[in-house]
Amino acid sequence: MPEYIHVSVAWPYANGDLHAGHLAGAYLPADIFARFHRLKGNHVLMVSGSDAHGTPITVEADRLGLSPREVFEHYHHRFLITQQRIGISYDLFTHTDTENHHRVAQDIFRTLLERGYLYTETQRLLYSETEKRFLPDRYVEGTCPVCGFANARGDQCDNCGSLLDALDLINPRSKTDGSIPVVRETEHYFLNLPAFIDRLRAYLSDPRKAEQWRPNVLRVSLNKIEELKGRPITRDIAWGIPVPLPGWEEKRMYVWFEAVMGYLTASIEWAHNTGQPDAWKHWWYNPEAKIYNFIGKDNIEFHTIIWPAELMGIDGLYASEGDGPISLPYDVPANEFMNIEGQQFSKSRNWAIWVPDILDRYDPDPIRYYIAMTFPETRDSDWSWDGFVTRNNTELLAAWGNLVNRVLKFAHKHFGGTVPNPGTLRDIDREILDKVEGGFETVGALLAAVRLRDALSETMALAREVNGYLDRAPWFKVIGEDRQAAATTIYTALRCIDNLKTLFAPFLPFTSQRVHEYLGYEGTLFGEQRIETFQESERAHEALTYHTDGRVVGRWEPSRLPVGQALREPQPLFRKLEPSLIDEERARLGQPREAETLPGRGS
Ligand code: MF3
Ligand code: ZN
Repeated sequence: MPEYIHVSVAWPYANGDLHAGHLAGAYLPADIFARFHRLKGNHVLMVSGSDAHGTPITVEADRLGLSPREVFEHYHHRFLITQQRIGISYDLFTHTDTENHHRVAQDIFRTLLERGYLYTETQRLLYSETEKRFLPDRYVEGTCPVCGFANARGDQCDNCGSLLDALDLINPRSKTDGSIPVVRETEHYFLNLPAFIDRLRAYLSDPRKAEQWRPNVLRVSLNKIEELKGRPITRDIAWGIPVPLPGWEEKRMYVWFEAVMGYLTASIEWAHNTGQPDAWKHWWYNPEAKIYNFIGKDNIEFHTIIWPAELMGIDGLYASEGDGPISLPYDVPANEFMNIEGQQFSKSRNWAIWVPDILDRYDPDPIRYYIAMTFPETRDSDWSWDGFVTRNNTELLAAWGNLVNRVLKFAHKHFGGTVPNPGTLRDIDREILDKVEGGFETVGALLAAVRLRDALSETMALAREVNGYLDRAPWFKVIGEDRQAAATTIYTALRCIDNLKTLFAPFLPFTSQRVHEYLGYEGTLFGEQRIETFQESERAHEALTYHTDGRVVGRWEPSRLPVGQALREPQPLFRKLEPSLIDEERARLGQPREAETLPGRGS
């Protein structure tokens, strides 16, 4: 029975380009996992989108002298192109400023309110009389009450790292115009998280979670639960989703409160776009469905506490007779961070690996391979250019690319470009075939457990085994005197390659597709991604979509390569990278970025 697998991927703030940390933290693991389950024949729904709201967008807009909409639309468009190029195969990558997202978020707000999970409270916040607005924490600077640093931000001190409340800053001033803010009272809605404590505790104490969830994710979540307080879910800000209540026209929903809803709203949008408006319920109101949230470690609490609480609070919304209870996240495989050459990512210092930039210089699969081999699954990891070049040359190219190339070339030269008849397989052939085919179990189990880095290492180890087999088995030395022995070897190697193509496919979708074609097959291993425009009643928006209407033949199962199948002429799968690149690339770090992409109007 095919399973229903929902791949919920963190929504990137549309205030800058995608960098390698995004890929390593959430998008690439999600894509690999989704592709694996598609090959398994499961029903996969993978959604995400641009996080359009909140101060991360408005701060960037102010800096550039643009409107928040201009900033988010610019980066949203770039996200679509970049993710298409690197092959992140969302069924739908949309954004949080669609009419659909607004409507569902407001329905969720109203439902929580009607059911008594929201309450109002008066807060004291900093207000700028010159700008005539409340200042979000990030808009205030002042002296840190903990360490005395003069330029602490209202939410955090960059000197000592303390999380701050803007009200505690000494000598606060507005970041925008330097004026001195005053304290004013303002009313906000709060989500009553304590009302969910028992249900959250039961949810997180399920023994399966202790077995399956990453220990760090569970630990962080269980710790938070004991000190749960109500959380404000509205803000005094102009950019965001309106609070659907009279008298609240000046306020907006807090960005995190509504962004997590995107997993649900994007599923609803996908169902609508594909002409099956109720199909989202296969994942959201089906007790057998499994929802996986792929996120970075800084977002754990929002996904294991706040989003589950919101879901518990709206259970039954839009449901019909016979629908099951609403689905909570089944697993939240949060990754740690990926540093760069030993230092933390920094946008302001341009200590970053920008995905659109490296895609101009390198092919997508080597980038995917390197990142997957260094996934920060259990601890922080590091992008090093030396590692990138070395792994490309000694692993991808030497162990896998060359294997494909020399076997296929040999088949073209000596067997007329067809799969030779093996005659009777020898022990050594059966042994290597069994070993590689065992990968569908072993690698498959690692993938299913979201141990992706191990899954890839295991696959590469199998490729090396096949190289070892070719060192022992008779082929090029005997082609003159014992053609049959060489045919048996080449047939066996081709079948191993066919198997490895599938095992590598979730990681290396572009080159696996080429291997598939070199082996003489028709059709594609995966569906196709497109950028499409969707018109709502007033606005139109662009989204990345995934289509299986081509001839998708990829299956997570052993090769049945037919004898006599005509092979196609192979081209090298990977390029050798010159070691001189290492210094060139390192020299780019910390320098102003060449492709500054969004010209502001100055401020
Ligand atoms: N925009 C947030 C960030 O970049 C992540 C939001 S994930 C969501 O850190 F699902 F909640 F939207
Ligand atoms: Zn400090």
